[in-house]
Parts: sequence; C-alpha cells; structure tokens
Amino acid sequence: MHEALPILLYPFDRGILEMPGSSARILVLGASGDLRLPETDAKADVVSDFRPDFLALQRDGFSVFSEAQGEGYDAALLLLGRNRRENETHLAEALRRVRPGGLIAAAGSKQDGAPGFRKRIAELLPIEDHLSKYHGLALWFRRPGLLEEGFLASLSSPAEVTSEGYATAVGGFSEGVVDAGSRFLAENLPSDISGEVADFAAGWGYLSLRLAERSAVSLIDLYEAHLPSLEAAKRNMAARASETNCRFFWHDLLGEPVTRRYDVIAMNPPFHRSRAAEPDMGRGMVATAAKSLKPGGRLFLVANRGLPYEAAMEEHFRQVGEIARDESYKVLWGRK
Ligand SMILES: C[S@@+](CC[C@H](N)C(=O)[O-])C[C@H]1O[C@@H](n2cnc3c(N)ncnc32)[C@H](O)[C@@H]1O
Repeated sequence: MHEALPILLYPFDRGILEMPGSSARILVLGASGDLRLPETDAKADVVSDFRPDFLALQRDGFSVFSEAQGEGYDAALLLLGRNRRENETHLAEALRRVRPGGLIAAAGSKQDGAPGFRKRIAELLPIEDHLSKYHGLALWFRRPGLLEEGFLASLSSPAEVTSEGYATAVGGFSEGVVDAGSRFLAENLPSDISGEVADFAAGWGYLSLRLAERSAVSLIDLYEAHLPSLEAAKRNMAARASETNCRFFWHDLLGEPVTRRYDVIAMNPPFHRSRAAEPDMGRGMVATAAKSLKPGGRLFLVANRGLPYEAAMEEHFRQVGEIARDESYKVLWGRK
C-alpha cells in the first residue's frame, strides 16, 4: 500500500476533515494502484502517469487520466512520494485546477520528506492545520483566490538535462544523469546486433540512443511504464536519432502482453518500487522478454552484481551467459 494513504485517510475517517458533497469533483494526484478514497459521493478523477497503477485504478473502477486536465475541482488530494520535485509538481497541478477556496489535502511519510514539504508550503501559503500519524503527516489548506503563474512555475521546475544534453524526467529513473549500469550495458553489447530491436523499460531512452548508432538496426521499439520518461525518450530520439525508425509504447511489461517479436531486446530492468530490492520485477521482465523474441532472438540485460537473475535466464532461454562484469554490474545474455 502507498505509505501515505492511511495518513491521508486518517483526518477524514476521524471526522477532523470533511470531503465535499455529492455534486463535487475531486482531483487525486500521486495515487498508486491500491487507492481507497475517504467516504464521499463526489466524483473523483485520479491521475496516474505510471502504467501499472493506471491500469489497476482503471480495473478498480476509478475514472483515471494519465495527465491532469480541467479546472474548477472542489478539492484535491495529494499522496506524497519520495521525489520532492514530483510532489511540488503535483502541488502546482492541484493549485492550478482546484477552485478558489477549495480544499487541498496532502499526506506523506516522514521518511519520504513530508515534514520538508510542509515547511515548503508554509513558506508559500497559510496552512489550515496538520497532524502527525503513522510515521508521517497530513496537512491541508484552502486554495487561495489569486495565484501568480510565476509562483506556480516555481513549483514545477523542469526536468534536469544530462551533461550530454539528454532530456530526462522529473520523478523518473536517473534524472539528469546517464545511469552507470546502462552505460556498462551499452559498452558491452556485441557488434552484430541487427534487425528489429526493443528497449524494455526504456526510461528516457539512453539505450535506444546508443542502439540507434548502429546502422544494422532497422527498428527500435521503446517500452516504458513512466509516461514522463517515455515523453523524454521521444524528445531525445527526435533530436538525436531522427533517421531511426522507432515507436513508443506506454506499457506495463509485467501486466500487458507484447504483441510484436524482436531479434534483440536490451534492458536495464527495474529492481524496486519501494525502498527494498524486488528481484521478482526483473525476473518477470526476463520472462516477458523471452516471450517477445523471435526464435533465435537474444536478450541482453544489465543488473547489479548482487541481483539473482541467472536462474530466471536459465529457465527462459536455451543458451545463456555472462558477457561482462565489473565491481558493480554484470551483463547477461540469453538466446531463445
Ligand atoms: C533501471 S530503469 C532503466 C531505464 C533506462 N533503460 C535507462 O537505461 O536509463 C528501469 C525502468 O523501468 C521502468 N518500469 C518500471 N516498472 C515497469 C513496468 N512494469 N513496465 C515497464 N517499465 C517499467 C521504470 O520506470 C524505469 O524507467
């Protein structure tokens, strides 16, 4: 469960805060797939740019959008996560879209920096009240009547650009810098890669940018669950690899089937969503990759040395091996 959810629900469940009534519209930002709302007849629009959460929310019957839209909401609920700038971007969205006087309530765990968020808001706006609960805090305030665009813009700062000039995404993997593991994979890919290639869990597209340098690659399909990262990948490919035939899929590689079959798949799989390592995510992606290759097709993946993917590679591929290893990473391959 999202650590912030019980904290956010607490003041509503205890009658300290009230949700607006039946004709009201509510915006929910930062939710994960296990969302539960405070008791209300109001119509809730939930925003999620992470495909697995988006799909889970849809399955649970929520009205879900990949981006916030519209104005005049009567209230907004914000679930705070670990990324400070993503939280501030959500706050700016709430301020932009809630009507003057409407309730904005936010909650997060202390470990995720909720106290710092409260401090930051208190510098900008009068906070109505707050409470500490379940190792976190909830706070709420009313949307002020007048808001300057410059003030909102100061909350939603753009994503960092890497020193090489690549666009990245706020709240995405490896913002503002090329990941050392992905660089290690790109440096160790064999020279004979050709044909139709997929970049699984593509992030902002670093591996695709490197694959696009190879003239024998005829197509690159990028699959990624975090929409802002995929948008950054689109910009990077358009700016740096406009000659390459490529397509972009906002896709949950652990929950949605891949219909196309590839000659080669490259990936630096996700290894956690929460704080702890979750090797099942990588193992699940190895299984998806094996299904998505043509006969004889090859998977190349990079992982932290300690992550146990070898058994999954053995299970899903006829031939497997290790191409390279340094003090932090290993590059594994498998042939179908
Ligand atoms: C370790 S990063 C690698 C990113 C990119 N390939 C790079 O080298 O910079 C893993 C990526 O997997 C994405 N991801 C996480 N869960 C996913 C899922 N279920 N389906 C597709 N992508 C997912 C994350 O958003 C993240 O961008």
